[in-house]
Amino acid sequence: MNAPNPIDLLFAGMHKLSPGDDALSLYVLRSLPQHRFKVVVDAGCGAGRQTFVLASELNTVIHAVDSYQPFLKRLTQRAKEQGLARLVRPHCKDMKDIPSVFPTIDLLWAEGAAYNIGFANALAGWAKAIRPDGFAVISELCWLRDDRIPDAVKEFFRSEYPEMHSVEQNIQTAEEAGYKLFNTYRLPKEAWVKDYYDILEPRAKSLVNQSDPAVRDFAVETLREIETFTISEDSYAYVFFVLQRRI
Ligand SMILES: C[S@@+](CC[C@H](N)C(=O)[O-])C[C@H]1O[C@@H](n2cnc3c(N)ncnc32)[C@H](O)[C@@H]1O
Repeated sequence: MNAPNPIDLLFAGMHKLSPGDDALSLYVLRSLPQHRFKVVVDAGCGAGRQTFVLASELNTVIHAVDSYQPFLKRLTQRAKEQGLARLVRPHCKDMKDIPSVFPTIDLLWAEGAAYNIGFANALAGWAKAIRPDGFAVISELCWLRDDRIPDAVKEFFRSEYPEMHSVEQNIQTAEEAGYKLFNTYRLPKEAWVKDYYDILEPRAKSLVNQSDPAVRDFAVETLREIETFTISEDSYAYVFFVLQRRI
């Protein structure tokens, strides 16, 4: 039998696969001026934390798209346990192919996931499929200022996420991609720790001496990310961009 890969080991059983918070997802969802959507897509849904918020609140089918089947398996299992199976439809697909699978989307949701295909690229690609006046709610890691950023934080993101931009730059990117800005919301710091870093940190510590270099490297990288967060002095955050497709 193959040894478990680093992702399966580190994220085993977790329902939150990125910083996030059900209460904020719900708050952002309720801030939209409409509440009835025919086609709702959750891009990079992971194990479905936010999918279940969308499904319970909207009481409509949520198309949950992720390219990693083990996460979708977990999502399907949890949907059953929560009595939401009839509302959650998993699709093992690349999120860049969303427009060809769902050509007319009323609400596109993506928490902590768009960066995988590049924020600008994701927005431009998905715009083709979001109907005029439809909504995109996308959370993205952003710089909150351009000075007084601790050197170690700059250094970490220079290698780990060089495409990270400011909130203003991302708003401009969204406007250029055919959206108007409806609102932004910042994810609170506690949402990085609770049920996320507080689980990952002890796990990563227990894996740093593993013989498998892939596991060891992933554990070390995770601890570096958490250390960066603790010294960040609020220089970056996850920000929700609530966008409406221009007519
Ligand atoms: C950081 S996780 C966030 C998951 C979930 N939204 C959450 O907040 O718990 C990013 C997710 O995007 C998925 N992903 C990465 N690249 C993808 C791609 N090109 N197409 C579809 N899903 C992708 C990963 O498998 C993972 O589940």
